[in-house]
Amino acid sequence: MENETIYILAIESSCDDTSAAVLSNKKVLSNVTATQKIHEEYGGVVPELASRAHQQNIVPVVHQALNKANIDKKQLSAIAFTRGPGLMGSLLVGTSFAKSLALGLNVPLIEVNHMQAHILAHFIEGQNDGVPEFPFLAMTISGGHTQIVLVKDYFEMEILGQTLDDAVGEAFDKSAKILGLLYPGGPLVDKNAQKGNPDAFPFPKPKVGGLDFSFSGLKTSILYFIQKETAKDPDFVTENLQDICASIQKTIVTILMDKLKKAMKQTGLTQIAIGGGVSANSGIRSALKEAETNLGWTTYIPKFEYCTDNAAMIGIVGHLKYKQEEFAHQGVTAKPRYVLGG
Ligand code: KG4
Ligand code: ZN
Repeated sequence: MENETIYILAIESSCDDTSAAVLSNKKVLSNVTATQKIHEEYGGVVPELASRAHQQNIVPVVHQALNKANIDKKQLSAIAFTRGPGLMGSLLVGTSFAKSLALGLNVPLIEVNHMQAHILAHFIEGQNDGVPEFPFLAMTISGGHTQIVLVKDYFEMEILGQTLDDAVGEAFDKSAKILGLLYPGGPLVDKNAQKGNPDAFPFPKPKVGGLDFSFSGLKTSILYFIQKETAKDPDFVTENLQDICASIQKTIVTILMDKLKKAMKQTGLTQIAIGGGVSANSGIRSALKEAETNLGWTTYIPKFEYCTDNAAMIGIVGHLKYKQEEFAHQGVTAKPRYVLGG
């Protein structure tokens, strides 16, 4: 087993992306994702539509991943899948598919925690920033999650802080919706923010203790502010879009950075590994760069395709678990509230 090449087929279907990847040891041979466009018109993910789309996408996506990797399914060492957290109907599609395939091929089945995978994505071969050394801090910021995690080892993680209500991506998306921008609005807020004045409209920051976050109050204050201003001037949003976006972005980035600084100080660590779709945000990236210079931090951000929901990150966990022979039984079920470290 020592020198054997491990081929993992990984499946991710926790939310609205159907993804399959093939890994040869820690190297990604293919990472194919079908993003569901259907949710755009509803301004958010509709769970029932998501599971139906997964049903349609899963077979072609897996085929494409195997073809692209030029791997026959008989070569696979194991099948890894996202067990949770996520939407029940969505998780069920990936879970059932992985279980059947592992049974059919008579190979081990490996269950993966999606939040752990976002963090372990940093260990995929070929990252631009290199690999963090244990222990380090991780911050996962996406449309579904906001967490600061102490990472002691591959499978020894402790949540230090998380959101008590909306995720940071949701804060971006809901603010964008108030401004009449299309879903998901995070990237559009970012684009406009880059041309605006971040100090034009100050928004209050939540008072949450410890390392936890709250974003629902910010959304409400943005809503009231816009309602008040548009009552005075109906064109307020279009006339001030860039300044409004820059102000919202500055507030969100400050909330994140304040907690991160607190967590770094509290733990005495200097390495921070970022993940999740919101790590594409230009404001967060420049704040992290500044912290590298001013505070001596080392920041790791995976390639963007490994930041958003993807199966390659499930595959790297599959690889690490395979080496430890940590396999799941056929009786394993999807776990929508799968807590990290639980
Ligand atoms: O990780 P992800 O692809 O999916 C999950 O939610 O798991 O993250 C998507 C989130 C959305 O809320 C989207 O608006 C946000 O990431 N996002 C951004 C940016 N790019 C993506 N938010 C702010 N600025 C960006 N540049
Ligand atoms: Zn995710």
